[in-house]
Amino acid sequence: MADSTPPSPDKPASTSSPSPRAPLSPSSTDPPPLVLVTGGTGFLAKWVIATLLLSPTPYRVRTTIRSLSRIDEIKSSLREASIPPSTITSSLEFLPADLSSNDGWTTALKDVTYVQHIASPFPAHPPKDEYDLIIPAVEGTKRVLRAAKDAGVRRVVLTSSFAAIAYGARHVGRDPAVPIIEDDWTDLSKPRLVPAYAKSKTLAEQVAWELAEGETASAFGSEAGSRGSSGSKLELVVINPVNIYGPALGREDNTTFRSISEFLDGNAPGIPRVQFGVVDVRDCAELHVLAMTHAAAAGERFICIGEGSLWMEEMARILKSKLGEKAKKVPGVVLPDVLVRGVAMFMTVARLLLADLGVRRVISGKKAREMLGWESRYSSEEAILAAAESILKFNGPAEAEAES
Ligand SMILES: NC(=O)c1ccc[n+]([C@@H]2O[C@H](COP(=O)([O-])OP(=O)(O)OC[C@H]3O[C@@H](n4cnc5c(N)ncnc54)[C@H](OP(=O)(O)O)[C@@H]3O)[C@@H](O)[C@H]2O)c1
Repeated sequence: MADSTPPSPDKPASTSSPSPRAPLSPSSTDPPPLVLVTGGTGFLAKWVIATLLLSPTPYRVRTTIRSLSRIDEIKSSLREASIPPSTITSSLEFLPADLSSNDGWTTALKDVTYVQHIASPFPAHPPKDEYDLIIPAVEGTKRVLRAAKDAGVRRVVLTSSFAAIAYGARHVGRDPAVPIIEDDWTDLSKPRLVPAYAKSKTLAEQVAWELAEGETASAFGSEAGSRGSSGSKLELVVINPVNIYGPALGREDNTTFRSISEFLDGNAPGIPRVQFGVVDVRDCAELHVLAMTHAAAAGERFICIGEGSLWMEEMARILKSKLGEKAKKVPGVVLPDVLVRGVAMFMTVARLLLADLGVRRVISGKKAREMLGWESRYSSEEAILAAAESILKFNGPAEAEAES
């Protein structure tokens, strides 16, 4: 596993602190910068697109999706986020591209100034084979960053995860009072201790930093090593969000939303002793857009956490106290860890909890605030309740269909 800090970046020449939302150096006659957002069908990506389209700095947005049949669904989500239909028509375009294939990426990066690389597998259930997550995450990151480098993009913002920071052997038994910061990395030296998703995010982020520093044989193999852009640098910023909640713009079924929907549906036998950081998707999207142009962000990784962390017991309490009847199936009993381990043997979704069972962490979100002036606007309670309301609004009928 690579060293535990991102490569030291070359800082931009100007050391004065620019307006955080100002693009680096646009001319008034230029068309608005084109931003590529990968994975436009995703929960976070839709909010990043919405934030870009509502930004006081005008941007054009291109998004890659696996199937163009989902364009109408994305447009409808953006209307849900109050994006005017005329803006969607004039400022957003769609292109097909899959992280698992080379096809489409060169076209997707043409004329692009900034990249928001957000797409990565984030399934609600652990995969049968961990490489089903790892290969698209890592190879997809290589494809996107390599194409970005060849196209001469100004900066790539990569959505990594807190999962690339705080798992594995080095973290087992660490003093919970010592805050987890951006210098920490998930330790892959004992792979059995690291869930597949955390492996996929750690390896994908590592390969991104390697590419940003200049292509190397270890990251790209011999074919890539012989490419013309070998050795040049790519400006990279990495965002490492904790669990993202907040309002969905359509039906969502990712791992974090599952933690609420399992409670609301009455599928959880009790409350596991699991604590997790919370950030609202609207705040997380703001940080992605801010990091895209803020001079100080280049070459840095930022933990993205809102007000702090919650235990699942606290989340259950929030749901029960604020949603009344709609939360009547939310459990009230905390499960002993030994029982959760037992349940995980036959309930795959419970397996996702094992690496966090009983683990208390203090997560520092200072760096994004102090370096970029980012602030979260939504409390943990607001983020949880907004996610729950979205599940009740969008997932209800689909759940019923799935069960019938
Ligand atoms: N939600 C969280 O709590 C959280 C926390 C930390 C980090 N993250 C990271 O944030 C990013 C977005 O997650 P999310 O919450 O928005 O999850 P999501 O809704 O499941 O979005 C995942 C996106 O990745 C796309 N994708 C998956 N495999 C792909 C492939 N082989 N080729 C092309 N696209 C592919 C999906 O496309 P399809 O719709 O076609 O499947 C979807 O657009 C991910 O990188 C995730 O690791 C999420």
